[in-house]
Amino acid sequence: MSVATAVKTSAPPYLKGFETLEEESTIDSLELEGTLPQWLSGSLLRTGPARFEVGEQDYRHWFDGLTMLHRFSFGDGAVSYGNRYLRGKTWNKAEETGRIPYPEFATDPCRSIFKRIQSMFSPEFGDNANINIVRLGERFLTMTEAPISVQFDPQTLEAAGVPFMPPGMVTTAHPHLDRATKGMLNYAAKLGPRNEYRFFHLAPDSDEPEVFARIPVKRPGYVHSFGLTERYVVFAEFPWVVNPIDLAISGRPYAENFKWEPERGTRFFLIDRTTGEASEPIVTDPFFAFHHLNAYEDDDGTIVVDIQAYEDASIVEQFYLDRIRSEGANLPVAELRRFRIDRDRATVSHEALLDETPFELGRINYGRCNERAYRYAWGVAAPPETWIDRIIKADVVERSHIEWHEPGMYPGEPVFVAEPGAEAEDAGVVLSVVLDSERGTSFLLVLDSSDLAEIARATVPHHIPFHFHGAHTSVV
Ligand SMILES: [Fe+2]
Repeated sequence: MSVATAVKTSAPPYLKGFETLEEESTIDSLELEGTLPQWLSGSLLRTGPARFEVGEQDYRHWFDGLTMLHRFSFGDGAVSYGNRYLRGKTWNKAEETGRIPYPEFATDPCRSIFKRIQSMFSPEFGDNANINIVRLGERFLTMTEAPISVQFDPQTLEAAGVPFMPPGMVTTAHPHLDRATKGMLNYAAKLGPRNEYRFFHLAPDSDEPEVFARIPVKRPGYVHSFGLTERYVVFAEFPWVVNPIDLAISGRPYAENFKWEPERGTRFFLIDRTTGEASEPIVTDPFFAFHHLNAYEDDDGTIVVDIQAYEDASIVEQFYLDRIRSEGANLPVAELRRFRIDRDRATVSHEALLDETPFELGRINYGRCNERAYRYAWGVAAPPETWIDRIIKADVVERSHIEWHEPGMYPGEPVFVAEPGAEAEDAGVVLSVVLDSERGTSFLLVLDSSDLAEIARATVPHHIPFHFHGAHTSVV
């Protein structure tokens, strides 16, 4: 057997990241290499799928697995860790019945058309909130788009009820902070015979979202995030669209009802945050994205919108678990792309910010730079035919980047934590949960955010399945 054949037939080392994690634990002090900065305190909270089957049934897609919460806490030079499944309605019903209880992004256990139609017009949602963690006032939420968020105790990671219902059947797990109110700005879509995009505000202590803008739409697009400037919500509608009636009657899981229609182009809407007035659509080339990175108004009035863009929506197909396990990952390139919108002329231009490296799951110094001109972002990249294997620091002014990479290591989203009182935009650390494929365990990597030099790593005694997003909080 040739070496090439041997390599091809062996399982890719990163597949461990798609295995269910059974253990739930609390560990007072993880094995630590390196010395943590004195100023680093609080916790990194993460959410994501960690169980990919219920009884005899398998979830089909990476986005669908049952939610686990993770907590890495810093104190006295040590790192403690806890993890716990989100014991909400979805988990409880799965435990009780031994079956997948609710439809997810690309898994649908509901076989009867009657039930589908019933659930379309009087939906009963699950609460498998495995995408992102957001702090709203004193509350910590784990969020999904499907659309229920779940409040949880950031210390014990116990579920603590549903804090609010969004004004629609889908929403995003990437709300923005409203600096003036400390509330949440988010999107929801009302689907049915008539559809509309809605934008709402939720005050820090409220359970009643207030819709401040509406855009009617015949065939809504898939929306994972949006941008924010000081004056506008920047809403990009990609040409991956759905006829909502299909969601009720097609018999296919949610995501499989969307169609790629590049001839529609991508439509940007600018929504005035004060009046709620939405611009006419401003059309540009077709593309697809999960994640906006930042947006702001330039000195000349141009609206700058940075997005991690794909040529089309085929990335979604790459995350089917069967496909990853049988063929390995082959992720399309995410380009960090800058759009400049001229509102008066209704024109959009765009350019790549980094020449040669993909960039995804990007984070910025959000408290200081969101809605504003900025220079730095931290993200990850996956070279062709493998999984995400490097952390990237991008300089969007110099249009350059640096990397952290070690063979056999597979990092997740790098969360930037600013050093208190520091002047530089990039002074602090980035925190990333990394799979060590050789050991079969994961560790929390702490890098200097200015040069990506390693400061410390704290090793967990098991693997942590690949997941999506999280947040650092100073209060827990
Ligand atoms: Fe996301």
